[in-house]
Amino acid sequence: MNRNALIFLSLITGVLASSSCRRDDREPDPPTNVGTPYHLYIPSNLPPMDIPADNPLTVEGVALGRFLFYEERLSGDNGMSCASCHAPALAFSDGKSVSKGIDSIAGNRSSMPLINLGYGQFFFWDGRAASLEQQVLQPVTNPIEMHETWPNAMSKLQADAAYPMLFERAFGTDHIDSLLVAKAIAQFIRTMVSGTSPFDKYKRGEGTLSPDAQSGFDLFKQEGGAIGQIIPVAGSQPVIGQGGADCFHCHTADAGLFTDEQFHNNGLDVTFSDPGRADVTNDPADMAKFKTPTLRNIMITAPYMHDGRFANINEVLDHYNSGGHASPTVDPFMKFTDPDMELGLTPTKRQQIIAFLNSLTDEEFLSNPAFQDPGPPHL
Ligand code: HEC
Ligand code: HEC
Repeated sequence: MNRNALIFLSLITGVLASSSCRRDDREPDPPTNVGTPYHLYIPSNLPPMDIPADNPLTVEGVALGRFLFYEERLSGDNGMSCASCHAPALAFSDGKSVSKGIDSIAGNRSSMPLINLGYGQFFFWDGRAASLEQQVLQPVTNPIEMHETWPNAMSKLQADAAYPMLFERAFGTDHIDSLLVAKAIAQFIRTMVSGTSPFDKYKRGEGTLSPDAQSGFDLFKQEGGAIGQIIPVAGSQPVIGQGGADCFHCHTADAGLFTDEQFHNNGLDVTFSDPGRADVTNDPADMAKFKTPTLRNIMITAPYMHDGRFANINEVLDHYNSGGHASPTVDPFMKFTDPDMELGLTPTKRQQIIAFLNSLTDEEFLSNPAFQDPGPPHL
């Protein structure tokens, strides 16, 4: 029998087996979200958020997700939780250049802040997870992160005095499995909305920006290059310089999210040690492209970039001002990679950009009581 016929046969027997099984054992419907609908407050200057139809937010689901986010029993040595690398006071990042897991093995990537991810379409620096529910499944078993097996983690939770009832209340079943854990944590992460920074209040007409921050925001949205200079852009129309900072091309400001949810090579290297997006697509054109991170709360999430190579915002601005490095995949909007050119950020302009970035620090988000450690699980 050839290979296709074999695959066909096994598919057919699989279908027959599962349908007969369903008839005989009268398997219950898969668990669904039950409980009280959770009203997620979205500030008026942010877009509406699409919540997946198969994981609506409930008060019980979000509360369970919060316990699980701080749950150290999800790790192999019962000593590390999601919050170990995603601390609320650091906008859910860890302040380290690269993160270390329970075995103290350093990974090659920096922890990412968790901000407004309910709007996201791709997760991780390389975008390898297509939903938050998928993303959450990875750190638990990752050998350089929490290094635990799901069966072990599940039996620890199942044996707990409170968790079975908490799952019952959120999903109508006390049988705990990894998919329900992922759904609950994803619900909690969707509530991490940052929209109360001075910049947001200014956008809603509730406050003002300092003159420096206002000038910095203008620079952020303007083309780089001397005013009136005609600057070629590979693969598209040339642009006319505005003396700005070019940031808006990728850190889109319009919707207030400061990311275009795309992958770019922002000119960090000439040769690449981390393939980035190409790891997922296997397309050489995606080499060293990484997800554009949001710039919300950026002043408190140093060090910067996927490998934490820049210790502070000045090093980041040095990089962009130099134009970055040319390479086959560098983004066309990194327009000044020619060693004889630079973006032209004067000390005054840099200070204004930093004032603007400071206006994106959302103190209410960083200290929101709803995000803090709720203590051991309880009903
Ligand atoms: C050992 C540190 C560590 C632990 C523990 C950890 N993470 Fe992460 N997290 C990271 C790192 C590093 C990345 C980026 C990894 C990459 O891109 O390959 C990341 C990325 C993410 C992202 C993607 C954010 C984005 O913008 O795409 C989410 C969401 C996330 N983690 C949630 C979690 C959850 C939920 C847990 C617990 C189940 C968890 N993390 C545990 C270090 C950690
Ligand atoms: C061509 C697209 C592009 C442009 C233009 C751009 N960025 Fe970025 N930015 C990115 C990408 C992609 C990353 C992540 C790169 C990585 O980690 O490898 C990034 C990372 C950053 C980071 C680090 C974020 C973190 O969480 O570590 C900061 C800060 C930043 N950019 C600020 C700026 C500023 C300020 C400007 C304008 C001067 C700017 N960017 C222009 C695409 C861009």
